[in-house]
Amino acid sequence: MQVGVIASVNEARADRFTHRTAIVIDVLRATSTMVAALEAGVTGIVPAETVMEARALVRPGDMLGGERFCRKIAGFELGNSPSDYRKETVGGKRLILTTTNGTRAILKALRAENVLAGALVNATACARTALELRRDVVLLCAGSHEEFALEDGLCAGMILDRLESLCSQPVETDDFGSAMLALYRNRAHCLVGTVGNSATGRRLTKMGLAKDIDYCAESDLSDVVPRLNGDALTRA
Ligand code: MLT
Repeated sequence: MQVGVIASVNEARADRFTHRTAIVIDVLRATSTMVAALEAGVTGIVPAETVMEARALVRPGDMLGGERFCRKIAGFELGNSPSDYRKETVGGKRLILTTTNGTRAILKALRAENVLAGALVNATACARTALELRRDVVLLCAGSHEEFALEDGLCAGMILDRLESLCSQPVETDDFGSAMLALYRNRAHCLVGTVGNSATGRRLTKMGLAKDIDYCAESDLSDVVPRLNGDALTRA
């Protein structure tokens, strides 16, 4: 099995996705929040690139969620904190979500045969689902501020680690993938500290959002794997 790793959404060329399963990773916080939202009973998550597009997609009964500059968007019911997504508020509802990088990365991967959302909280489940889909894989690290983000690379390394241990065939990756696998193996014992000390982690802490990091840096909290099904991500 071939596993390519793309360092940031800006480097995502459409041809990298053809005939593959794409796993889009935005640990802080979009893909972690997607897992939390589906755990809380959201029926589907429609990714939108812009705030205007998100508003235009709303149908009666839907909820609008997302962020710009890490803050809830004016007029939206929900932000991009996993803890915003509680059963009592979102259960049974469809969510329209727009975030700076995460939802943009999902839309960049549309050429792929399958699109999954991966995070530390569902890394092993994500690797398992990707294996069941029997395609080569591309891991797209969404990044932050148009650049590579350490926490996304760490998660790519963790998914690679799990693919290696679960796959009956050899897993081959590119040089960036090998570097992320080594990073993960080196930091596996202190994921929370490594994510918290990343540039995005420090930024979120300064903004009073450290509690989000505690959730997003946990590994394998959930078996939920968001998978694109038509225009919405649902449970795989
Ligand atoms: C994004 O999609 O850019 C991030 O999830 C931003 C954030 O954490 O608010």
